Order: sequence, then C-alpha cells, then structure tokens
Amino acid sequence: MTNSNSCWAVVPAAGVGKRMQADRPKQYLPLLGQTVIEHTLQRLLGSGAFQAVSVAISVEDPYWPELPISQNPAVITAPGGKERADSVLSALKALEGKAHEDDWVLVHDAARPCITSGDIQRLIASLAQHPVGGILALSSHDTLKQVEGDQIVATINRQQIWRALTPQMFRYGMLRQALQNTEGNPAVTDEASALELLGFRPSIVEGRPDNIKITRPEDLELAAFYMEQQA
Ligand code: CTP
Ligand code: MG
Repeated sequence: MTNSNSCWAVVPAAGVGKRMQADRPKQYLPLLGQTVIEHTLQRLLGSGAFQAVSVAISVEDPYWPELPISQNPAVITAPGGKERADSVLSALKALEGKAHEDDWVLVHDAARPCITSGDIQRLIASLAQHPVGGILALSSHDTLKQVEGDQIVATINRQQIWRALTPQMFRYGMLRQALQNTEGNPAVTDEASALELLGFRPSIVEGRPDNIKITRPEDLELAAFYMEQQA
C-alpha cells in the first residue's frame, strides 16, 4: 500500500433535495451559469487526481442525460439508491474490474460544488500512508450545548467535536465491504460511520469552511459568493 495507488472519485447525486424546496433536485439548479453538479464534477476532474468519477444518478432523472458532462469518457453513471449510502455502494459497484482493492476512493457530495483542488490534494497527501483513511472535517468555533427539550444540560468539549465534510477517502475494497455490512443501518450517514461501526478509526483532515453543502435555498447565493472569492 503506497501512495502510488490509483484514486477514484464517487459522487452521490441521486437525492431529491427536499429541504431545497425547488422545482428540481438541487444538483441541477443554476449556479454562476452552470448547474451545481457540473461545477462539482469539473472541479473533481480538473484536480487531475482521479482515474474516473463514478456518479450515482436516480433512474428517473431526466436532467442528467441532457448535461454534456454525462458523456465525458472519465465519467461513469451508476443507478442511485434509496439512501445516500445505497447510492455510494452502487457507484462503487460500477468501478468493479477497474478499481483495485487497495486503490483509494474519494466520495464527494454532488451538492458541494465549492470543493477546491487544494483540499483534494491535501486530503490525499495526508492519508496516503494511512491504514484506513479519513475525511475532511471542520472544527467548531461556537460553544456547543447539549440540550433536552429547550434546556441546556451540558456544555460539550469543543475540542472533541468536528463537522464531517466530503471528500471522504477510503480503500475501495474496505469501503465497499463496510457499506455492504451496514446496509439499511440508519446510523450510516456518511462513509466514515460505516467504517467506525466495524471498529476502524478514520482520521480527520481539516478542510476549508467554504466547502459547504447546498442544503437550503440561501446556500446557493453563499456558494456563488465563495466561488467568486476563490476565483
Ligand atoms: N444522495 C444520493 N442518494 C440518495 C440521497 C442523497 O445520492 N438516496 C446524495 C445527494 O444527491 C447529495 C448527497 O447525497 O449530493 C448529500 O445528501 P443531501 O444533502 O441530504 O441531499 P438530498 O438528500 O438530495 O437533500 P434532502 O435531504 O434535503 O432531501
Ligand atoms: Mg438527504
């Protein structure tokens, strides 16, 4: 296992974007002249880090085939699943016969279009020798409270709490096995949690705060602002 292992990107993009309350899934909303998912995929492809990008798309999705990037030879389309973890597992299966067991896979939300090449390269460099892998994460600047009802019952040690971002970087074989073993478990809300449940201890690598996930309507403007700042 060396850093000469190939890297592959997996992009879950089969969500409906309920919290966005738009007329289409949020990955197809316009952002600075393109759709959100086009920005995300261009940034992944533009990083030069990946052999290919495997994208999970809902089977009923009419928007994806209309995008030129869906025809890019470095882009593989896989059927999406019920939950995010199902979509990721499906996109991993689509890499079968291409990715080796020990190759690295970086899973990145389609809804995070502000990802930078710098963060991708730093994650890969930081974890290249790691036995398990890890994720980009953000520390909390605010004091954190544990609450029951509307009452504060404790103040949580901020040093111990990090917010999980993507990309999340793991070995192809290990990640696939972990997601298969935890299929249907609602506690698996990201890739790291699947490995944690099997007793592994993924690392965190501090990410940029502008790597936001577009979730609610106001996030689109924020993403546009960050992208303009980055340029
Ligand atoms: N995702 C997916 N398959 C699912 C659910 C989510 O591929 N069954 C993807 C989304 O498309 C998104 C990423 O996982 O890129 C993160 O999920 P989230 O932000 O929750 O997106 P949605 O599920 O689409 O949004 P919402 O939860 O508001 O409905
Ligand atoms: Mg969701």
